[in-house]
Amino acid sequence: MELHNLTELEILALSAEVNVADGHPRQRLTESQRAIVGKFPELFALAAGVPFEALETRAQRSYMDAVQQAAAPVGSGRIFSGYASSVCIDAVARCLSESAPRVGLIHPTFDNIPDLLKAWSVQLVPVDEDQMDASGIERAGGGDLDAVFVTTPNNPTGRVVGEAALADIAQYCAARDMVLVIDTSFRGFDVRAQYDTYELLDATGVDYAVIEDTGKLWPASELKLGMVATSERTRLQLERAMTDILLSVSPFVCLFVDALARDAADGGFEQLHRLVADNRERVRNGLRDAPNASVVETDTRVSVERIKLADGVSAALLWEQLRSRGVHVLPCGQFHWARPGDGDCFIRIALGREPEMIERAIAEIRHSLETAPELAMQSTA
Ligand SMILES: Cc1ncc(COP(=O)(O)O)c(C=O)c1O
Repeated sequence: MELHNLTELEILALSAEVNVADGHPRQRLTESQRAIVGKFPELFALAAGVPFEALETRAQRSYMDAVQQAAAPVGSGRIFSGYASSVCIDAVARCLSESAPRVGLIHPTFDNIPDLLKAWSVQLVPVDEDQMDASGIERAGGGDLDAVFVTTPNNPTGRVVGEAALADIAQYCAARDMVLVIDTSFRGFDVRAQYDTYELLDATGVDYAVIEDTGKLWPASELKLGMVATSERTRLQLERAMTDILLSVSPFVCLFVDALARDAADGGFEQLHRLVADNRERVRNGLRDAPNASVVETDTRVSVERIKLADGVSAALLWEQLRSRGVHVLPCGQFHWARPGDGDCFIRIALGREPEMIERAIAEIRHSLETAPELAMQSTA
């Protein structure tokens, strides 16, 4: 199989009958979310009548409150909004290429992060997720690095860098005048990632950029905000990089995000967390005794789940076989951006779906796993 990037594989899944490939939310709207959508004409009219800055600030405040980020610098001119978090990652990549071009990047992680960084000629050094602390960064070549880039909770593993570990990393970076970049796109799923990151980072004096994302949470037809916040003192010219891309996000989307974030804080997150946890149980129970695969019994809470394949079974080949039956998952080789072969023993299943979709996917995956001899070929990843 030609090694496509993960988004290319997700695009193939968009029109498929069974799509558990992308981590974008595709479950049905909840009742209160439907009520918000019912108010679209009202929101649209309001969006035209209120100054943009007020709308953007409101959306940012509501989102940051929903994920417990009281110290986020809302209203200070230090948070920039984009149409998607990838826009923010791209802007950060440009700034890193200008002022901090040697970056230690968590491994594995979603491949558009290394791809965007590499597109700006940033030099990447992998830091294993298991080693993501000050001594691990040092061992990975810390002395030669200008920046560290962490995804927490991570995609696809769901691993969270806890408060003490992040403080350790931030102090390490601050002491060496390194930039710390954190992608928190999945933090809405996991309260363990909702300690006040900004308070912690500000206390260390580190030069930081934090990427936030509303796009993984609510089935909002891709109406979402990416955000990137910086420390007060920073060498990253983010305002320049973001304003080279856009004038503003949609004021209507700001109002929509504001309403969704308030709803999330008012019980919506509990509902979402329940859906994801129940779907995870469906996947684990449905595949626990499947041939040629095993459940990865971690305490992850993000909206994706990995399944480990038996020795010699290739995720890339399983993906191909499932695809031929109209069923789309993600093979995990590409997440392991420095060593794709390390990830070819995992597939990833998206959990932001209705239970019936998950059940169909499980049945198809079981069926394909039973034909594993055909899949036990050398991976191309
Ligand atoms: C950790 C992480 N950050 C950013 C992105 C990019 O999100 P978007 O496609 O909405 O720009 C993804 C995509 O899956 C991701 O996993």
